[in-house]
Parts: sequence; C-alpha cells; structure tokens
Amino acid sequence: MYTFSDNLIKTLAEARKIAVLTGAGISAESGVATFRDPNGLWAKFRPEELASMDGFLKNPLLVWEWYQARREVIDRVKPNPGHTTLVAMQDWYEECGGSFTLITQNVDRLHQQAGSRDVLELHGNIIENYCSRCKKPHEYRYTADTDVKEPPRCGYCGGMIRPAVVWFGEMLPVDALEAAQDAASECEVFFSIGTSAEVYPAAGLPIEAKRAGAMFIEVNPNQTAITRYADVVIAAPSGEALPVLFEKVRAWQA
Ligand code: APR
Repeated sequence: MYTFSDNLIKTLAEARKIAVLTGAGISAESGVATFRDPNGLWAKFRPEELASMDGFLKNPLLVWEWYQARREVIDRVKPNPGHTTLVAMQDWYEECGGSFTLITQNVDRLHQQAGSRDVLELHGNIIENYCSRCKKPHEYRYTADTDVKEPPRCGYCGGMIRPAVVWFGEMLPVDALEAAQDAASECEVFFSIGTSAEVYPAAGLPIEAKRAGAMFIEVNPNQTAITRYADVVIAAPSGEALPVLFEKVRAWQA
C-alpha cells in the first residue's frame, strides 16, 4: 500500500493553487497505449510518418487509418481512478476557494469524459476533425462500423479532412499554452502525472513551476527526464496512487 509523508499531505491540504500536467500514462490503466513504453505506439510506428503533416500528405490513407484504429480503442475505453480522482480534486480545491488547472498532452478526452472542467489540451484532440486545406471544422463522428478507406473530403474546398491533433512541427494552441504557463508560474503545487517529459514545451512546465517556487510532485512508475527535479516522487501507477493520496488529503486535520 502507498504511504505518504505528513508534510506532503499537509502541503496538499493547505495549498489553494494546484496545477497538473498529464501524459499518456494516466490513460494506460484505461487500456490506451502510451507512446514510449516498451509496447507503446512509437515502438511500432514512426512518429514522423504518422503524426506529421508531411506523413499525412505522403500517405493520407495510412495516417487516416492509424487515427481510425486509435479512435476505435478510445471509443470503447473508460476513464480510470486516476482520471476520476483528478475530478474529485478539482471539485475539492474549487469548493475550498482555490484553483485547479488541468493541463493535458492527451488527445483521448478521457479527462473530460470523467468530468474534469476547463481542461487545457496542449496537443489537440483525436475526436474532432478539420479540413487540412481551408481549416474549416468538419463534422465527422467516428463510428465503429464506418469503413472509411480514405480521409473524407471537405464539403467547402475538397481538401482532405484530418484529426484535430497537434502534429510534430505544428504550433500548439496559443491560448492553452499561455494558460498552462500562467498556471505553472502561479501554482503552489505542480503534479506531473504519466508523462515521460520528452516533448517540449509541455515538458518544461514542471520545471517552470518549480523555478517559481512550487512543490513539484511526479507520479510515474518509471524514472523520467525530470524525476531528478521532483520534490516528491510517487513511483506508482496513477490509477492506484492518486485515490489513496487524495483520500489522505481530504481527511487531513491540521
Ligand atoms: N501511471 C502513471 N504513469 C504511467 C503509467 C501509469 N499507470 N503507465 C505508464 N506510465 C508512464 C510511463 O512510465 C511514461 O513515462 O507514462 C509515461 C508515458 O510517456 P509517453 O509514452 O512518452 O507519453 P507522453 O509523455 O504523454 O508523450 C508526450 O509525445 O508523441 C508525443 O504527442 C505525443 O502527447 C504525446 C507526447
């Protein structure tokens, strides 16, 4: 079972400004593949071929089918206790008059499905789509029985439709990134949960928070590129550790 220091529980119980960055690892216990784990997506596919505009233009069918396959998984999985604990934490901190900012690199929208509000999506989402030429949003809902064998075409300009995911080499949504950077610089506690911290600018947020004086807590069963900067390392699956941690915070009596 997981044990936590009184200092950690006291700090979390008394904090009023919390920021959280999540990565693919928080969805792992829901059955969604991560990217860089041994059996992750990048062990089977090359990111530049599948998660880039160049790759899409070179082989639109391959890229579209890869996203269809990921959508098929995401369409049937459910949030896990890691997701639902973050919802309970957001409720609790906001009821205490504090702030709770959830920043995610994930595109699966499991945070929103669990009930998280005002989620900052740094890498877009896999559910929505838009035209790769005129950028107009395109209404296309994935359904398991849709045997789409090539990207749909835009009704306005005929361009190929693409998922609303931020691809390598593309700009991150400025509003989300600025809000994430503000939260990192103003928070008292910054959680990095389920991310290898390999991709910037997201991976720089925990360090920015620490530099601004926040307690930096990492939740990850494995070491990452930023573990050495963490004040507290919870080397455990988030779906197991977060419910136990938050139960103790909620029960803390000063
Ligand atoms: N609980 C917490 N962490 C976990 C769990 C779990 N149950 N299972 C795995 N992890 C950790 C792994 O140890 C790893 O450090 O989750 C991390 C997942 O890392 P990545 O696969 O690199 O995913 P992520 O950090 O989200 O990747 C960032 O890279 O390819 C791009 O756009 C993509 O958003 C993605 C970005």
